[in-house]
Amino acid sequence: MRSRAVLAFCLIASLVLFTFLRHHIRDLAEVARTYATFYPYITSHPDVLYRYPSHASKPYSKELELELVPTIIHQISLTQGQDLSLSRYDATTTSCKALHPNWTHNFWTDANASAFMAENYPKLLPHYLGYKQSIQRANILRYTLLDHFGGVYLDLDVTCLHPLDDLRHLPWLTPGAYPAGVNNAFILSRPRHGFLRHLLDGVQSRDLSWGMPYIKNMLSTGCMFFSNRWMSYVRSLAKAQHAIPEEARVYILANQAGHMEPHMLRGAVTTPLFQHAGASSWHGWDAAVIVMIGKHYCYFAATMGSGATFATFLIWKMTRSRAASGRSWCSSPSARESLDKIGDVERSVGVKEG
Ligand SMILES: *[C@@H]1O[C@H](CO)[C@@H](O)[C@H](O)[C@H]1NC(C)=O
Ligand SMILES: *[C@@H]1O[C@H](CO)[C@@H](O)[C@H](O)[C@H]1NC(C)=O
Repeated sequence: MRSRAVLAFCLIASLVLFTFLRHHIRDLAEVARTYATFYPYITSHPDVLYRYPSHASKPYSKELELELVPTIIHQISLTQGQDLSLSRYDATTTSCKALHPNWTHNFWTDANASAFMAENYPKLLPHYLGYKQSIQRANILRYTLLDHFGGVYLDLDVTCLHPLDDLRHLPWLTPGAYPAGVNNAFILSRPRHGFLRHLLDGVQSRDLSWGMPYIKNMLSTGCMFFSNRWMSYVRSLAKAQHAIPEEARVYILANQAGHMEPHMLRGAVTTPLFQHAGASSWHGWDAAVIVMIGKHYCYFAATMGSGATFATFLIWKMTRSRAASGRSWCSSPSARESLDKIGDVERSVGVKEG
């Protein structure tokens, strides 16, 4: 039977394609899950919000005092041999030094960053060196530096407005991200925090090809990777039978009323702790497309929606007419699905930059 052979071929082709793309599908599904579960999680676990400024006086126990986050600020500038002047960041870095006179400032550049990775994270080194974009290296580096030393990581375009000393009793803290998830422009962490371990465990399996540099960075090392791992970490905490020890907790900055927005480092903003210049160090062609999609979200969604409906209708028609004439139409559901999901991701990230 010819139609059976074609059907079998279609099934096998879909299966092969699905097998081939299963990691991509997993990563996109994680993004969808993060968007669907982030706010419900915050609502059901309000203790994840750290309300700043905190009016409650916190009498530290002696043990807690020993666990304070180390007084180190890490900043990163990886230029891959490009002669980029760092003087444009003088004002921001000086502001942070001035407010933290007794802290150590670790400034990481290509040479000492690679040496640090080789010495302390040899398993991640091939990925680190293999990344095509400096921003991917800068992302992984901030996670490993905090895992190794602890302290505070700050993007170079962040101006400090307030000393961070009174946050050092927290095990792990970061601002929220828009439209969902957590942001990696400011991270405060104790060394060897459970979340950083969980985050770094995911690095190798997320090093996939995506064809679009901005998407690739987001899903392999950047904001979506960071947020997806955060969601799966807090899910595993929530499942644990025993009470969560304080040092395993993660916190998100919020205001007195429990709103995360006033602390978000999104575009050019001033928050209670920082001023953010909103400079994007990526200039990928796809980033421009994504920003445009984000700005014209409704129009784009309507176009995509009607396009998908029309395509579905067309395929349905063709399947019917071909089936009637004894032939079959091979369409791969997994490829179709993943294309739709890529569309979703593009829309959701576009909004972030808008
Ligand atoms: C920094 O250290 C010096 C000397 O140890 C001390 O006098 C000063 O109060 C410290 N400053 C801050 C802001 O902690
Ligand atoms: C890394 O190297 C740069 C010079 O390229 C230097 O200024 C910086 O202090 C070094 N950082 C560390 C943490 O050793």
